[in-house]
Amino acid sequence: MSLLLTGIAELTTNDPARGDGHAAPADRGDALLGIVRDAAVVVAGGEIAWVGPASEAPDADERRDLGGRAVIPGFVDSHTHLVFAGDRSAEFAARMTGTPYDGGGIAVSVAATRAASDGELRALVAGRVAEMRAQGTTTVEIKSGYGLTLDDELRSLRIAREVTPHTTFLGAHVVPREYATDRAAYVDLVTGPMLDAVTADGPTSLATSIDVFCEPRSAHAFDGDESRTVLEAGRAAGLALRVHGNQLGHGPGVRLACELGARSVDHCTYLDDSDVEALAAARGTTVATLLPGVEFSTRSPYPDARRLIDAGVDVALASDCNPGTCYSSSIPFAIALAVREMGMTPAEALHAATAVSARSLGLDRRVAPGQPAELAVLDAPSHLHLAYRAGVPIVRALDL
Ligand code: NIG
Ligand code: FE
Repeated sequence: MSLLLTGIAELTTNDPARGDGHAAPADRGDALLGIVRDAAVVVAGGEIAWVGPASEAPDADERRDLGGRAVIPGFVDSHTHLVFAGDRSAEFAARMTGTPYDGGGIAVSVAATRAASDGELRALVAGRVAEMRAQGTTTVEIKSGYGLTLDDELRSLRIAREVTPHTTFLGAHVVPREYATDRAAYVDLVTGPMLDAVTADGPTSLATSIDVFCEPRSAHAFDGDESRTVLEAGRAAGLALRVHGNQLGHGPGVRLACELGARSVDHCTYLDDSDVEALAAARGTTVATLLPGVEFSTRSPYPDARRLIDAGVDVALASDCNPGTCYSSSIPFAIALAVREMGMTPAEALHAATAVSARSLGLDRRVAPGQPAELAVLDAPSHLHLAYRAGVPIVRALDL
């Protein structure tokens, strides 16, 4: 059964070869988007079968007219922590009146997550994934990291795997309280029995990546040497590498991620010149994933996306949806912040939240024949409205 989508005022393909040259002027990222105006798409068997101008569209079994809306690739949210229970809204309120974030609140979520039943966690995750889809996200990465025992980390990954193949083992989120006086023993647990169990049925059976909160400024997170130990063990076990780096201050996370060939280093809030040079040299391998919802929600300075893009760094955007630093699952919100506060053009921000975030998961997110039909539709005629209509629910995943 094939379906012809028409009435697409503007189609973002992320395929520069397709651009029709009439994109809105003055956006230096436009060439990236491969925009086709008055477009049509044929979908068959869950895949894109044809893309082009509506005037050239082939026949199909069914037709759906989208009424002059814009269609974009579904957002790829490449950084989330959706498996958690409990409520930390009071911590957010305290931050708004000046209490700094230091990662200490993670222990509150760990206690609540350990106490929750499988059914409760499953329902919480399903609700959050549905909330994301309603805002245009069609692909999501989910990390563990609120279990921090062998059984609780495995449980988090199993529940995440039920909703996405893109799962990340974050046993090295923080050192749990019961190991506070013996950090080395916890690193041994993460890199030994936990990692063995995560990869027991093959290197990507429960997780495709490993991550570490590399943040020497937090008493709870991991320093450069500990992070290297975790990442090297994960890599030896066949996992791709991701890093939480340079979130709370300058530090070794970004350079370590680039040195070890991580797919992504996330946050990148505090960067010095050597970090930017390392990221530029790692172009094509390591993506800098910016998470502006975190700076919003922790009252921190925003990362300088313009500086990174101008240096030639691959920049992605993601939500970091988590109970502590950003309980927002909204990619449109991240795009609006990136455009308003971080020097990204609307086109660069959309590309970052689709094509580049996809690349950090080893995916291709173009609207092209043979690609999965993961699309989102806007109640608006162009992608510019994503940031222009900030806070208005104009984008949703397209149900086909
Ligand atoms: O990405 N930085 C570490 N982890 C999360 C926050 C986790 C929490 O506070 O619960 C983050 O910001
Ligand atoms: Fe995170």
